[in-house]
This record gives sequence, structure tokens and C-alpha cells, in this order.
Amino acid sequence: MQDSPFQLIDPAMVKQLVQPRKPFSHKGDYGHAAIIAGSYGMMGAAVLCARACLRSGVGKLTCHIPAVGYNIMQSSVPEAMCKTGAAGDESATSGHAIQEMDKYDTIGIGPGLGSNASNIALLYNIFEQNRRPMVIDADGLNAIGKEKALLNKIPLGSILTPHPKEFERLFGKTDNDYDRIQLALQTATDNDLYIVLKGRYTFIASPDGKGYFNSTGNPGMASGGTGDVLTGIITGLLAQKYPPLHAAILGVYLHGLAGDLAAAYASQPSLIASDLVDFLGQAYQSL
Ligand code: APR
Ligand code: MG
Repeated sequence: MQDSPFQLIDPAMVKQLVQPRKPFSHKGDYGHAAIIAGSYGMMGAAVLCARACLRSGVGKLTCHIPAVGYNIMQSSVPEAMCKTGAAGDESATSGHAIQEMDKYDTIGIGPGLGSNASNIALLYNIFEQNRRPMVIDADGLNAIGKEKALLNKIPLGSILTPHPKEFERLFGKTDNDYDRIQLALQTATDNDLYIVLKGRYTFIASPDGKGYFNSTGNPGMASGGTGDVLTGIITGLLAQKYPPLHAAILGVYLHGLAGDLAAAYASQPSLIASDLVDFLGQAYQSL
């Protein structure tokens, strides 16, 4: 195993990565994240992502959401600031003024965005304004699947978080899990990106050719919205200046551990995505 490019993410590895809070610090020390998410009927994804981002320890969060989600976000997540497009627009993208995106330490995009044709233009716009590593999930990934030319516009060192279907839409079908892992590693290396291939044992492909398997999580997490929580956590860690590989490793581990703690407290079948946010504090504590 010594020469294997694969490593298991275990408590010892993760403990070394956590950056303790400094006594004389203020919110400016923990970064300003932006989340671009939500559409009519899918504001829950944006709310879950935002709450998870805050619980990960970020200093400030601004949510770029459609006007239809303004009251929902402001009342469910009072800690977050909001920017919206014009009233009447149902998606985060159509008519949404995505300006000054370079002022954020990082951006997480995708949860509940909806499959709007305008997502492609939105991504071009963001990749032009922001060259720092960011997190791309869900319909953000699906837009890249439709417009492959976007792939080499993604800021280097960014983190993509596909589930197997999203991975397939982006990079094509593979015959088995092993081939999918190899394709993830090749793609990560070729494009200088981190690919977080989600599943029972989430796999992180690093651009240096190394791979990491997560050891936490349980089937109670096979439930709508749990992926949106992961996007929020990793975005929050990136904003706090964790290097992308550390943000991905710590993010998947804490997310799965929160799921394990929630399942132990109640049960796997009853687990919902909000529980992961609620147990993130205990997950941190147990490190
Ligand atoms: N064991 C451990 N972890 C699991 C298991 C399992 N059996 N099943 C799921 N998970 C974890 C995954 O590792 C991942 O972190 O739960 C999360 C599920 O994420 P997604 O598949 O993205 O699910 P979801 O959040 O519901 O997605 C919401 O966005 O990605 C789109 O198409 C998706 O419309 C859906 C929406
Ligand atoms: Mg998802």
C-alpha cells in the first residue's frame, strides 16, 4: 500500500488540518463567501447551503438568489446578507446582476439553481470576474456538461462536487466505479481541479494524481438536500483560506461525521439534510 496513490481520510489526517480560532480575531479573519443558488421551488437548497456555510465557521456570507427567494432567505438565515435579481425573475440567473464577484474570498454555485439556459452565460460571467478557487455543484455542473468549453475557464484549483449522474453528464459514462475513479483522476490532473465524487465512500481526486476516500457517512444521508449542505461547508472552508485540498478533505469528513452523529442521536431513516447542519458543531467538537 505504501506506493498507492490512494489514502483513507481518517481522524488523524483531519485533526491536523483544522485551524483553531484565534483569540483576538474578528469576522474579517474568517473570510467572506458568496453562494449563488436557488430558484422558484428550490429555495430550500439555497437555505441549506447557506446555513451549512455559516456553521462551517465563515466570517461573512452573501447569498445571490432570485428575488422570489428574498423573504425566504432573510427569514430562514438572518446571519446571511442577500443580493437579488429584478423582481419577477424566478431564477438566480435571468436578469440577475452578478457584479463585483471578485470581492469575495470564494464563491459556491449551483444548489437549486434550476436548469435554466442562462446558467451558461452566468458561469462565463463568473469565471471572468473570479479567478480564485471556487465550488461548483448541481446545476452549475450541469451547465458545464451542456457547454463543455466552460471546463477550461474554471478557475484553477476549484472544487467540483458531482454525484455519479452529474459526473456522467460532465465527463461521460464509465463501465464501473474503478473506471470512474480513474477518469476523475485524469480529469482533475488535466484541468488542475479537485473532483469530489460523491457517494457511499466519497472520493476526492486531486490534480497531483492522488486520491482520497472518505470514511464517514451513512445511508441515512441518501435524502434530498444533503449535497447542498456539503457545498455550503466546503465553500465556507475555502473562504476561511483552507487550501482547496484541505477544504475538500475536511468538508467531506465533517459532513459525513455530522450525518453519523445525527443518525446515532435519532436514526438513519429519519435523517434529513437540516440535521447535518445541526450536528456540524458536534462533528467539529469531536475532532
Ligand atoms: N452513504 C453515505 N453517504 C451518502 C449516501 C450513502 N449511502 N448516500 C448519499 N450520501 C451523501 C453523498 O456522499 C453526498 O454527500 O449524501 C450527499 C448527497 O448529495 P447529492 O447526491 O448531491 O444529493 P442532493 O443534495 O439531494 O442533491 C440535490 O442537486 O445534485 C442535484 O440532482 C441533484 O436535484 C438534486 C439536488
Ligand atoms: Mg446535489
